[in-house]
Order: sequence, then C-alpha cells, then structure tokens
Amino acid sequence: MTTQAKIDAAARLINGAKKIAVLTGAGVSKESGVPTFRDALEGLWARYDPQELATPQAFQRNPKLVWDWYEFRRKMVRKAKPNPGHVALTEIQKRKPDTWIITQNVDDLHEQAGSQNVIHLHGNIASTKCSADCCGKPTLIDLDALPDTLKWDAEKQPPPCPYCGAYARPDVVWFGEVLPADALSHAHDLSVACDVMIVVGTSGLVTPAANLPHYAKRAGAMVVEVNPDHSMISPIADLRLEAPSGQALPRVVERLN
Ligand code: APR
Repeated sequence: MTTQAKIDAAARLINGAKKIAVLTGAGVSKESGVPTFRDALEGLWARYDPQELATPQAFQRNPKLVWDWYEFRRKMVRKAKPNPGHVALTEIQKRKPDTWIITQNVDDLHEQAGSQNVIHLHGNIASTKCSADCCGKPTLIDLDALPDTLKWDAEKQPPPCPYCGAYARPDVVWFGEVLPADALSHAHDLSVACDVMIVVGTSGLVTPAANLPHYAKRAGAMVVEVNPDHSMISPIADLRLEAPSGQALPRVVERLN
C-alpha cells in the first residue's frame, strides 16, 4: 500500500467511527523538542539513566538529585509548544466529538493545542505533590504559595510539604508506582468501547498503558498506529502510518469529511 493509500485508509476509518480513543506517548511530543526517557541526553545529565532516576527508590536515595532532574525536564517542557501532530488530534476531536485522548505524557501539549477530553495516565510534570500524600492522593502543593516561615536549604534538598514536612516531589507516576485509579479505569472503559484506537508515538513497553490497544483490539476495534519505527503495538495494528506524527496526522486530517 502506498503512503497516500494508508493515509486515505486511516481517514476512512476515522470518518466511519463513532467512538475514537487515541493513546499517545512521548513520540507525539518529540517534534516539540521534548526528549523521551529513552533518548540520549547531552551535558550535565548525560551520565544519568533517566529510567533509574524516575523511581521512588532513587528519590529515597537522593531526593535532591531527582528533584533537580525534574526541574531540568520542567524547564524543557515549559519551553515546548504543540506541534502539527497535537493540532491534528485536536482537529480529529472537533470533527468526531466522541474522541478521547489518553496520554502517557506528563506535558500539557494536547491541552495547549486545544484538545478537550484528555486523560493523563502518568500525571503532570508541572504539578508538585507531597511525597507522603499526607492529605490524600494526591496532596498537591502550590510551590509559589509556600509560606515564608517554611525555610529549607534549596541547595541541599527539595522543598518541604507545608502540611507534614515530607519532601515535595513532581506529580508524576514513577516506574513501579500505581497509576491514578480513576484515570486508568476511564481509559480502560474508553478502550473497550471505541471503534477505532489510534496509537501515536509510544513504544508500548510500559504497562498498564501498553495494554490498552490490546483491550481495544480484543473488543473489536480497528487499531491504527502512527510511529516511524516498529513498536510493541505494531504486531496488532490493522494499519500502520510509518512516519512522524507531525507529518502523518495532518495529512489524515486533510482527508477527513
Ligand atoms: N512521531 C511519532 N512517534 C515517534 C516520533 C514521532 N515524531 N519520534 C519517535 N517516535 C516513537 C518512537 O519510535 C517510540 O516508539 O515514539 C516512541 C517513544 O517511545 P518511548 O520513549 O518508550 O515513550 P513512551 O512509549 O511514551 O514511554 C512510556 O515510559 O518513559 C516512561 O513514563 C514514561 O510515559 C512514559 C512511558
């Protein structure tokens, strides 16, 4: 099948669908300049393995190191702007209002692109919470509103929770942690109810998110993958657009009714 034929086939599936679920991963934000955990980094952080920093154990061992690593990522995310892939997904939502985006990304580029109905499975890097979740899950902390009376040595440690004094941490899901239950159960329900699932820019290596396309497929949905490379989802995809999402998705949108 030619690339154009695949684009047309994807548009036909979307045109014919009532319920659409989109699962996105780091690949959709790559063209916005947000590196994935699996990208090699340069400079100060090059000697660290991000997958080993994003764990509760790493935070316990060295809270300041993990806090600084997230400050570094936060700065990158703050600078990022939505790319044509994010915008195209918003366009699909406008034409097909029963379209939900289930993202593993901790940036808010889908929302910045104007998307509604976005579920964040792995949290939000811009938010901060108490590492002990002392007042319920999650106990969010507004860093800008911390009282002046709360003094800490910012050179040595992360800020403290104003309610219990435990360290503050980013409101993201680390490896080995449980996903927010409501988000996961909603994502599961959408996956088994959709006619078409579009899987964009995920390696499919990290469960439970990576299970969702399998649930969709088993329940009878067509699975469309947008990824320049082979992924763990590729074997179950009915249609594969092997191109960066910022290029492939706008072409699909051009062909929508
Ligand atoms: N367009 C679409 N896909 C792309 C692009 C692009 N421009 N560039 C890269 N990709 C694909 C890669 O081929 C890869 O399959 O995006 C995928 C990125 O995979 P991962 O880095 O493993 O990201 P993701 O699947 O989101 O990881 C899941 O693991 O790193 C943790 O918690 C983090 O949410 C993340 C989770």
